[in-house]
Amino acid sequence: MFKVNENYLKLPGSYLFSTVGKKQRAYQEAHPDKKVIRLSIGDVTQPLVPAIIEALHKAVDEMGHAETFRGYAPDLGYEFLRNAIADNDYKARGCQISADEIFVSDGAKCDSGNIQEIFGLDNRIAVCDPVYPVYVDTNVMAGRTGTYDPVRETWSDVIYMPCTADNNFAPELPKETPDIIYLCFPNNPTGSTITKAQLQEWVDYANKTGAVIIYDAAYEAYISEADVPHSIYECEGARTCAIELRSFSKNAGFTGVRLGFTVIPKELKSGDVSLHSLWARRHGTKYNGAPYIVQRAGEAVYSPEGKAQLKEQVAYYMKNAAYILNGLKEAGYTVSGGVNAPYIWLKAPNGMTSWEFFDHMLENANVVGTPGSGFGPSGETYFRLTAFGSYENTVEAVNRIKAL
Ligand code: MLT
Repeated sequence: MFKVNENYLKLPGSYLFSTVGKKQRAYQEAHPDKKVIRLSIGDVTQPLVPAIIEALHKAVDEMGHAETFRGYAPDLGYEFLRNAIADNDYKARGCQISADEIFVSDGAKCDSGNIQEIFGLDNRIAVCDPVYPVYVDTNVMAGRTGTYDPVRETWSDVIYMPCTADNNFAPELPKETPDIIYLCFPNNPTGSTITKAQLQEWVDYANKTGAVIIYDAAYEAYISEADVPHSIYECEGARTCAIELRSFSKNAGFTGVRLGFTVIPKELKSGDVSLHSLWARRHGTKYNGAPYIVQRAGEAVYSPEGKAQLKEQVAYYMKNAAYILNGLKEAGYTVSGGVNAPYIWLKAPNGMTSWEFFDHMLENANVVGTPGSGFGPSGETYFRLTAFGSYENTVEAVNRIKAL
């Protein structure tokens, strides 16, 4: 009889956002007359901007003619896109990242889940608590995480770095030394950020201890404050210790289009083995590239029209964020995030657990959020709302919560 990968059996429950979706659908089916507003999963709602639509149409037409038709994409992604990324996301910010250190993919979720494959199973990972569940769950699937403690809701071989109100939701350097450190800023789920000086401490720490940082910067487009870094490569020494993950989902509305990229500098090595060459080997073997049409759409993100239109789109969502943040503050909630990130993190009142508050909100305000405990034990009693709804729904949701 064949055997399954038993690591999968260790995973408790279903993926967080699947559970949230199931509960929402069950409630909606039981109450078809209610208008449920979803501010749970960080999925965008605004249409693709005209510059992107135009690029998509043009690329579709190219695919219809033999002279301009394209088959398999180059392993790392088309040069026109990698050059645009290198120039706009890195060179323009003073970061030394070249186009051949960029690997184009179909999104940061896959990259953040797959990247652990190039590391040995005996590496110890460190994660923020609360954390985007993909980092931990994919390490569980790989067999890197020991056993699960259902009471503490933690894995035995994982170093958890609590991010709580006491430390402004910013992790402190861990007491035990990890090999792989996952950081995500602006943070999902808390919406917090760290300054460039704080991030420099992590880079120095990783270089000193020989750890690698996997830096998820999927939300960098939402940064509004000057001392918040957009890329880990703004820090000195990051080329020898950091991988960066980026997405087109949140800055350009590509959640259904799918595009992202991973940056691995050539100097990043374990002994004399370059992580760049391992990821290139993996990419070449397991992946056939994001579609040409989508990569052209990605290129349009960096055109002058694309940039201007997307700036407005980000501002639209950040207006929602401000509405949620201020509305909930007025209603007496303890809230944070929402200034450099599209997520608002709030404390459930009256000692409610995250799931109790989830049910309370669903049943009484018909608003769906994400229970903080689903992101890790330090998220217990917290609740996350996203700014990715429409403005009208956001206003209605906040008014309903205020009226509770
Ligand atoms: C979230 O809601 O945390 C994100 O949408 C998840 C994701 O981007 O995969």
